[in-house]
Amino acid sequence: MPSLPLFDNLLATPLLAQHTADAHGAVNEGLRQFLIEGSYLAASVLFILGLRGLTAPDKARRGMQLAAAGMLVAVIGTLIDARILDYKWILLGLLLGSGIGAAISIWMPMTAIPQRTAISHAFGALAATLVGISHFDFLTRILGTEVGHVEMAALGFEVMFGSLTITGSLMAFGKLQELLPGAPITYPFQNETNIGLFAVTALMFLYLVLAPTAWGGHTTVFYLMVLAGLAVGVLIVIPIGGADMPVVISLMNSYAGLAASAMGFALGNNLLIIAGALDGASGFILSILMSRAMNRSFANVLFGAFGTPVETAGKASSAGMTVKSVSVEDAAAQLAYASEVIVVPGYGMAVAQAQHQVRELAELIERRGGEVKFAIHPVAGRMPGHMNVLLAEANVPYDKMLEMDEINDQFPRADVALVIGANDVVNPAARNDRSSPIFGMPILNADQARSIIVLKRSMNPGFAGIENELFYDPKTALLFGDAKSSLTKLVAEVKSL
Ligand code: TAP
Repeated sequence: MPSLPLFDNLLATPLLAQHTADAHGAVNEGLRQFLIEGSYLAASVLFILGLRGLTAPDKARRGMQLAAAGMLVAVIGTLIDARILDYKWILLGLLLGSGIGAAISIWMPMTAIPQRTAISHAFGALAATLVGISHFDFLTRILGTEVGHVEMAALGFEVMFGSLTITGSLMAFGKLQELLPGAPITYPFQNETNIGLFAVTALMFLYLVLAPTAWGGHTTVFYLMVLAGLAVGVLIVIPIGGADMPVVISLMNSYAGLAASAMGFALGNNLLIIAGALDGASGFILSILMSRAMNRSFANVLFGAFGTPVETAGKASSAGMTVKSVSVEDAAAQLAYASEVIVVPGYGMAVAQAQHQVRELAELIERRGGEVKFAIHPVAGRMPGHMNVLLAEANVPYDKMLEMDEINDQFPRADVALVIGANDVVNPAARNDRSSPIFGMPILNADQARSIIVLKRSMNPGFAGIENELFYDPKTALLFGDAKSSLTKLVAEVKSL
């Protein structure tokens, strides 16, 4: 048959159009994938730079901004995924999440940051667990397919660690917010029970991964594992004292990260794998660093029920030693005429929110020719960097905040060590008393200063629940009262001198 060009062309046009559309579609999809993976790579780099920024107080703000920018890039990258069929619920979630985030950042006080972090981890873990459950349900019930060993390992891990992190973080939140008793809740064979329950949960996980689907019971075992994980979260946190919650929180941070990383493997999402691994590793390292700074083993924090109320009448008071109190006028004169002052801030400064008054007092002393430095103990307060963050908020220059190792040798030269709401971190019992629960914890050498002024409200002990010999030292004088009000009076008095 002779060729009929026109006919051929007519026939070819739709085919060509189809071919071109397919090619365009493939190009568009390729470009889309390139943009998604590119955004994930950029986000991962920003997360790593953000973490790097958090290693020094003066770079921390920038680090947080980089990490936040990374998260924005990651969210945008995810939103262009072709598998998204409907943006309605996503938009609602975005509005709701951003609203809650903004409200928290505006109204949550600095002192509540530990519990804020705990509740964030609970939400993060809830998201990972729900994604895991819906993924499992989709594969098994809706598609009716078998879940392969590797996929089940990722899914099971995600859901097991996710579920125990939800309840563990909620318990930590409850203790820190004082909705639950802060003291450890203990009972006989508690550690054995907890380890046993965790072992049962892990066995269910192994069954899901290893047993062929033909053996049956996968769905039941999967949901039982979720329930067991939730129970483990509650039981492992109740025996830990409220003040050890920062270590628990960073451990939960690590678990939530591991769950997110496993979710990344299950969904084939590179960003989740990387970000989850960063989160898991940094949370774990932070928990270890905190335990080390308290000279306690990780196991002691987790299983030692530290913070159980102890007999607070210590050796000094029972030996008939007395404390010396000082008036605002005398304390102000001592500070105004000192040539070297080292401020030791602690948890009480955070509670009193006295950081602005501290900075004002320091400036006044410096204007009169004295030198003021701030001694930062790694576990002063109730979370890592607690004192740095508060003092930075009050515009205390970073170069005035010295870490324990940098400042400890300088105490013998200081005319006054001004201890503001710090207790355990300056307790010489950590050095001298082998029977003390804090023996071995590195402390700030405030007792070596020529004189010590302590601002606190009463003779109540600090977190460790033990008496502090420093308060009975003849060189020490106590200015009783709320730190903010005492500092306000000191500022007024120094101004008048
Ligand atoms: P603490 O030993 O807890 O002492 C805080 C002191 O502040 C108390 O003596 C309290 O005495 C006083 N105080 C409370 N409210 C006050 C206010 N409004 N005005 C003035 N004083 C006030 O604090 P620290 O020396 O910072 O030590 C921290 C402790 O927490 C350590 O034992 C550490 O191991 C533990 N810990 C810390 C972390 C982290 S990461 N920072 C993590 C886990 C555990 P009054 O009640 O008499 O006023």
